[in-house]
Amino acid sequence: MKAINEMKLTVPSRSANEGFARAAVAAFIAPLDPTIGELADIKTAVSEAVTNCIVHAYRDGIGVIYIQAKILEQGRVVIRVRDTGCGIEDVKKAMEPLFTTCENGERAGLGFAVMESFMDKLRVSSRPGRGTTVTMEKTILSKGA
Ligand SMILES: Nc1ncnc2c1ncn2[C@@H]1O[C@H](COP(=O)(O)OP(=O)(O)OP(=O)(O)O)[C@@H](O)[C@H]1O
Ligand SMILES: [Mg+2]
Repeated sequence: MKAINEMKLTVPSRSANEGFARAAVAAFIAPLDPTIGELADIKTAVSEAVTNCIVHAYRDGIGVIYIQAKILEQGRVVIRVRDTGCGIEDVKKAMEPLFTTCENGERAGLGFAVMESFMDKLRVSSRPGRGTTVTMEKTILSKGA
C-alpha cells in the first residue's frame, strides 16, 4: 500500500532520545487526529521499542536507532524501530510476557506484551550479533466515521 506520508529519524541510543522519538512520532501522526487513547497507545509502544534498543541492543555502549513511521491509506500507521545491536537469540521466547534477560529486577519483561496489546500488529525480526527490527501497525479510526 502506498504511503501518504513518511518520516525517518536516526538518533544515538541515549536515554533522552526515548522521549524525543516518542514525541516525534506523536507529532507525525497528529494530522490523523487520533484520540487521546490511540495517541497514548502509540507513544507507549514507541517508547518500549526505543527503550529496548537503549537498554538491551546497545547495552555496552551507544549505537544508532533507526525509526521510521509511515501513514498509509485509511489511517494505517506503520512504525519501524531498528537497531544494529546484539540481536535476540530466541525471539519467540523474548516476546513471552514476563520474559526478561535483565537479572537485577529492574525490568518487568513486559515491553513486547505492551507493544502487542497497544498496537494492532507487531512483528519482531532479529539476528544475533546483527540487530533487531520491530515493526508495529495501528489503524487510527476516523473520528468522523
Ligand atoms: N532491541 C533489542 N535488542 C536485543 N535484545 C532485545 C531487544 N528488545 C528486547 N530484547 C530482549 O527481549 C527481552 C524482552 O523484552 P521486553 O521489552 O518484553 O522486556 P524487558 O525489556 O526485559 O522489560 P521491560 O520492557 O518490561 O522493562 C529483553 O529482556 C531482551 O533480552
Ligand atoms: Mg523492554
